[in-house]
Amino acid sequence: MGETMTTTTMTINLTVNGEKREVSIEPGDTLNFVLREKLGLTGTKKGCDSGGCGACTVLMDRKPVYSCMLYAAKADGSEITTIEGLQNDDDDDDVKLDPVQKAFANHYGLQCGYCTPGFIMLTKALLDENPHPTEEEVRQALVGNLCRCTGYTKIVEAVMSLSERRR
Ligand code: FES
Ligand code: FES
Repeated sequence: MGETMTTTTMTINLTVNGEKREVSIEPGDTLNFVLREKLGLTGTKKGCDSGGCGACTVLMDRKPVYSCMLYAAKADGSEITTIEGLQNDDDDDDVKLDPVQKAFANHYGLQCGYCTPGFIMLTKALLDENPHPTEEEVRQALVGNLCRCTGYTKIVEAVMSLSERRR
């Protein structure tokens, strides 16, 4: 006699980049899966998928989280910010970039760019909490995010430029 497989789905409510979203998920879905595959927000990357690289970093209620390590069900009711949610309406340029995005671009803090959304979201959270960190504090804060291209020097320079501008 054949067995019948049943799939349990549930609905969660998120505010993603300021927009209320109701999403149907399965219990094992991660926030990373939901953002990328269900909401089409592919700016958030998936790297190691096991908490070791930080490429998937987003903000949940303004705090950085590895979206690959968080069950979407745990994010129910929370406010999520992804790289797509950053913009600066005061900017005169056609492409409206957040100051953190601009700093990474101006200081060559990226090469292939795969790690960049994670670093930028982490930097947002760092500067929110500590508007002018020292270089040591920046290096410490970014330690969980890996970059295979830049050697980190340019990334740290980008974050330090923001730290100094805020003084
Ligand atoms: S993809 Fe989440 S930590 Fe690497
Ligand atoms: S810029 Fe390529 S991994 Fe960081």
